[in-house]
Amino acid sequence: MVQITINGKQIEVPEGTTVLRAAEMAGITIPRLCDHKELTPYGGCRLCIVEVQGVRVPMASCTLPVNNGMVINTETEALKKSRKFVLSMLFNAPLLWTLTGPQGVVISQRGMASSDSVEGFPVLDLPAGQSD
Ligand code: FES
Repeated sequence: MVQITINGKQIEVPEGTTVLRAAEMAGITIPRLCDHKELTPYGGCRLCIVEVQGVRVPMASCTLPVNNGMVINTETEALKKSRKFVLSMLFNAPLLWTLTGPQGVVISQRGMASSDSVEGFPVLDLPAGQSD
């Protein structure tokens, strides 16, 4: 077991747990977009960033394994500002992202963007009539 502190709360989690899952175990919700059980985590959307004491830059919690003694903050003004920026970039892109149940992440083309331009993301075709 590994002992960590998240938002001032000390918890123990199994070794190899990501910070995102550890936070969930502590009842703390971290915003996320590309984290999904059907996808391989790779830290793409950056919405789940957290601050780790001793680390200069925010880290993607969905790919960050816990270390013993790690001190993590999930809600700071800087993080909120960064998440707002990430969201503004995502929603200004000419793509519509829709999270669905068993299908995982579905990306529907909008405007001039091509789904081929979204490297690393699974692109599933929407069945007719489900794009809006
Ligand atoms: S949920 Fe997207 S980077 Fe972590």
